[in-house]
Amino acid sequence: MSVSEHLILGIESSCDETAAAIVAGGRRILSSVVASQVDIHRKYGGVVPELASREHLRQIVPVVREAAGQAGVQLRDVDAIAVTRGPGLIGALLVGITYGKVLAMALGKPLVGVNHLEGHVHAVLLEAHGEGRQIELPAVCLIVSGGHTILYHVKSEPVNGGGKFSYARIGGTRDDAAGEAYDKVARMLALGYPGGPVVDKLAAHGNPRAIRFVDPKIKGNPYDFSFSGIKTAVLYHLRRNPQLQPEIEARQQSLARGERGADALRALSSSATLDLIASFQHSVVDNLVDRTLAAAAQQGVRTVLVSGGVAANSELRRSFETESASRGLAAYFPSRALSTDNAAMIAAAGHPRFLAGDRADVTLEAEANLPLA
Ligand code: KG4
Ligand code: ZN
Repeated sequence: MSVSEHLILGIESSCDETAAAIVAGGRRILSSVVASQVDIHRKYGGVVPELASREHLRQIVPVVREAAGQAGVQLRDVDAIAVTRGPGLIGALLVGITYGKVLAMALGKPLVGVNHLEGHVHAVLLEAHGEGRQIELPAVCLIVSGGHTILYHVKSEPVNGGGKFSYARIGGTRDDAAGEAYDKVARMLALGYPGGPVVDKLAAHGNPRAIRFVDPKIKGNPYDFSFSGIKTAVLYHLRRNPQLQPEIEARQQSLARGERGADALRALSSSATLDLIASFQHSVVDNLVDRTLAAAAQQGVRTVLVSGGVAANSELRRSFETESASRGLAAYFPSRALSTDNAAMIAAAGHPRFLAGDRADVTLEAEANLPLA
């Protein structure tokens, strides 16, 4: 087997997805299995850490077994095990880390600890490779999910048949992550959990310029974000417009009956609500795109990478594509499946670290706030 065809088993359990994947040569996905816990956390409107850990414990063994099975690979044939060590929920991370350690020890394989955020960067590289596209680095990468909204400068230098990636933090959110704002606004409007996908679909039916949300004024770093203001602005808008309450209650009842599809919720939404949703999304997307492209200009890069759950958003993708093209920049995203948490991105990020001889051992610990840079 050539150096480029090392088989890496990736394990991811940092939040509410138990995931395992087998990736060959850091680029070819042989399998990617994701067990989502969204049905468990839905009734709480967010991830409940203790339930997450318990569910990871239940899922981790079958998920890893299924990843090996789908890839047609025996676990004893993998070259290394890459596991997310942070950032994330401590109890959730511990499940993946402990199982990774046990497997590495039992099989006599090297263990590589991976930063979850580095995984999101690699999700974009994986996708481009799958499509036969070559990404030019350095790049500016926006990671935008329910837990993170952060901008990095990413570069790589060739080392040892692979690449050594390095990261510098350019900016990040001062308060809520963008996905968190989507989820909170969806909750106020009774659109279900997680809110992003439904808001995305309903926004297409409203006027994005109906309500102007003021751009948050952030002192200091021009590449920082803030999303708590817009969330509060939506709340005040609802208080000023009590006529929107009956439909919120109707949607709540629809959700309680298990009717949570975008079509069902849209049928219970007035044009005023659809305008509010579209305007909220437009403001968030504008903010993300403007600051990211300003950072790209300031850093003098020609490539923009966008990853994380919110990268699945249709308006965000469209806006990044047109705005980047008009500035002569190339924008890349993962497919929807690789945008949200998965283990293929962890295996891919682990590959160059494996080639560089980066090894973890039984002392590897979960780090809730592990920074990438
Ligand atoms: O990356 P991810 O699966 O988990 C975290 O690490 O947070 O991201 C989940 C987040 C949720 O907040 C969800 O509402 C948001 O991504 N999301 C979206 C879309 N799909 C998922 N937000 C906007 N538009 C979407 N299409
Ligand atoms: Zn994530």
